[in-house]
Amino acid sequence: MSATPARDAIDWGRVRADFPLLAREVHGKPLVYLDSANTGQKPAAVIEAVDDFYRRHNANVSRAVHALGSEATEAYEGARAKLARFLKVRADELVLCSGTTFALNLVAYSWALPRLKAGDAILLTRMEHHANIVPWQLVAERTGARIKVAELRPDGALDLDALFAAMTPDVRLLGLAHVSNVLGTINPVAAICREARARGITTVVDGSQAAPHMALDLPALGCDFYAVTGHKMCGPTGTGALWARREHLEAMPPFLGGGEMIKEVRFEGTVFNDPPHRFEAGTPNIAGHVGLGAAVDYLSDLGMAHVAAREAELLAHATEELQRIDGLRIIGTAPEKAAVVSFLVDGAHAHDLATLLDLDGVAVRSGHHCAHPLMQWYGVPATCRASFAFYNTHADVEALAAALRKARGLLA
Ligand code: ALA
Repeated sequence: MSATPARDAIDWGRVRADFPLLAREVHGKPLVYLDSANTGQKPAAVIEAVDDFYRRHNANVSRAVHALGSEATEAYEGARAKLARFLKVRADELVLCSGTTFALNLVAYSWALPRLKAGDAILLTRMEHHANIVPWQLVAERTGARIKVAELRPDGALDLDALFAAMTPDVRLLGLAHVSNVLGTINPVAAICREARARGITTVVDGSQAAPHMALDLPALGCDFYAVTGHKMCGPTGTGALWARREHLEAMPPFLGGGEMIKEVRFEGTVFNDPPHRFEAGTPNIAGHVGLGAAVDYLSDLGMAHVAAREAELLAHATEELQRIDGLRIIGTAPEKAAVVSFLVDGAHAHDLATLLDLDGVAVRSGHHCAHPLMQWYGVPATCRASFAFYNTHADVEALAAALRKARGLLA
């Protein structure tokens, strides 16, 4: 698809056909892929961009003067520029990395570790993924800072009054998911960051589950750091980025040392490169980021507003269908939700349910979804989770509901 089409003009069946894997069968049944919050499927354009890079342009970046070296560097930096436009940020404020986990650890080790001290607090929300909890625990252990937790309302929305009340003077940093990977809750990040900024609190937003599903304007969100992961947004695994305001990046020491992150090395000492290259030691995932550039082109051509509207329709349909199944309880019913539906079925363990669904070709994730503290709060060891993307169809929703009814009958 080339220019952004009118929403009604999008043939979603044709869009789905852009994803070769979705045409396959599983256990002799057509695949119904409902695990996009875990990893997204890839359109042919992304697969071809990676293939083309290795067939025609492969070389290392920013080192060789030969033609291939220039082409590879141009392709890699071109991908950075595309992602920057997608997020509405400056390319020199975007550190390319392996994904959100790396990005959050980079903030933890390069920003937080040198700054935090005993008596400081790190505020996290109950709905964080382990990637936005464990790095802060490691920082807390080393600095003597403590972790505070902002709780939820029963529907899985953040309790904003409690969150703002928890922003006490000792809080130096707030770690916040833009969208919960379990509940689908979309947090009002701009309003939260405004409150945090007014109190001098630095904000770190995990955008893993937001970037694939909505138009983003990171400076307008008002956060200090924002992490995205490429494989959930139609790109290859091992890709992603950390965005930070230039003044933060300038003030941060390197996280990893090695090639490419230096200007000059002597045994007496090293002069580090400017950001973002200061944080990109070693040979990066060049082909992967070229693929991520193609993914961003693909999503931009489709239009993120269209993607969000399509997924809202699928969420409404799925919610309606699942609510009609006896004994099924949806976990996470916040008014602002992305197309993620976690659920429990009376008398059925989530893994048993997911296994039976899989036999019908329906791929959902079951387990704790890397969010133990959230599971503990709901008092459950696991949920089943169906997560949708724009390439899903209303027929996928119906297949999920039919497979669930059948599985429930077998497990009852
Ligand atoms: N991969 C994680 C999930 O499935 C983030 O939610």
